[in-house]
Amino acid sequence: MNLNPPQGMRDFYPEDMLFRNYLFDKWREISRIYGFEEFDAPIVESADLFRRKSGEEIDEQIYVFKDKGGRELALRPELTPSLARLILSRIKELHFPLRWFGIVQCFRYERAQKGRKREHYQWNVDIIGEESPIAESEVIAAAVNVMTGLGMTSRDFKVRIGHRGILHDILKYHECEMKYFNQICLALDKRGKIADEAIKEMLKSDGLPESEIQKIFKIMEIRNIEEIESIIDNKSTSLNNLKELFNLLEIYNLKDFIEFDIGIIRGLAYYTGIVFEGFDVERKYRAIFGGGRYNNLLQNLGGKDLPAVGLGFGDVVIKELLEYKNMELKTNAKPDIAIAFLSDNERDFAIKIAELIRKKGISTDLFLKPEKPKKIFSLCNKMKKRFVILIGENEKETGSVTIKDMNSGIQEEVAINDIIKKIAP
Ligand code: HAM
Repeated sequence: MNLNPPQGMRDFYPEDMLFRNYLFDKWREISRIYGFEEFDAPIVESADLFRRKSGEEIDEQIYVFKDKGGRELALRPELTPSLARLILSRIKELHFPLRWFGIVQCFRYERAQKGRKREHYQWNVDIIGEESPIAESEVIAAAVNVMTGLGMTSRDFKVRIGHRGILHDILKYHECEMKYFNQICLALDKRGKIADEAIKEMLKSDGLPESEIQKIFKIMEIRNIEEIESIIDNKSTSLNNLKELFNLLEIYNLKDFIEFDIGIIRGLAYYTGIVFEGFDVERKYRAIFGGGRYNNLLQNLGGKDLPAVGLGFGDVVIKELLEYKNMELKTNAKPDIAIAFLSDNERDFAIKIAELIRKKGISTDLFLKPEKPKKIFSLCNKMKKRFVILIGENEKETGSVTIKDMNSGIQEEVAINDIIKKIAP
């Protein structure tokens, strides 16, 4: 029997759960600090919810299956369409702008590669019902704070910010055919992931003439906002929008973390304005997180027109990056105390001591059968226990225990009433 999980899926052994929980705790903590409320949705949705037939990669990557009633269902590749569905179905009762977050597992039938799996966990933060770029600055600030909370600095990563509206304005200025705008966005999102030649081929097969393709690649060489100002009208709402976001992010003290990048376009067709992605400075890894404004998604799903902004932050790239940087993962405490007994006669006494310590909220691992001291210490060493409490005949009689400090190796006899003082001063 093949003991591996299906291709692209992961097992989470206890040591893997330490990191996962540590990251989830950070996501939750920052969500709370930034005023987001948690929500969840089914992992399985009607397949139609995700199908947009816009040529997006994600559309081809959906895991689709039929249930026993013949309904076509899908494992969610992302959370945003479910969020839109939940909001639309309670639109009258909800108060806007609202801020919601979720931590969910997503499935995409991707080619296995660095930073991309067929299953990943994603933290989403979204603000629904706000037009102004202050919504963008709030979600970007939350993501940056997760990164700094994990020990990353502005020397390690940057948030690269682009704007689909600006790209639209520039293409229009260059008299490009705007009917291809969606295809241009989806193709340009591939830059850096596939060869430029392959992107040109994609655009050609979409029907763009060679001259237009050349113009597009020239536009991609723009490096800063000043260059854009010299090309397009100062009254461009998109440009003013972007400038306002940069001003806002300065107020949040995040100037060092952000960069304009005309090449950030995003691979999902629903984005309508500002788009952004977090990258490691060396650009060794895929995007750590990404998001943007999607003002039409709710309307496209048959609902009211509501402005929206959000981002998704996965658990795969950040783990690779932290490992590469050799950053100590400050994972949550493991069970720290072990209680062992030398013969069956001391078992009940050991249970009572274990329960006494557990009542104080201290994580306590109880040996389930008697063992020899040598084996006890060797196991506890491997399990990185902080203290080992040993109970033998002698201890039971005197009503005390032997505690070994596994760091110092010092072993001492401690009265029952003093155990807590010793292990959790
Ligand atoms: P996305 O860029 O497709 O956006 O995914 C967001 C993040 O999820 C990526 O930056 C990456 O960290 C992680 N991710 C995506 N696919 C994979 C994969 N196959 N393996 C590992 N990690 C992955 C969205 O999903 C949007 N719905 C985000 C959003 C929320 N936009 C607005 N609100």
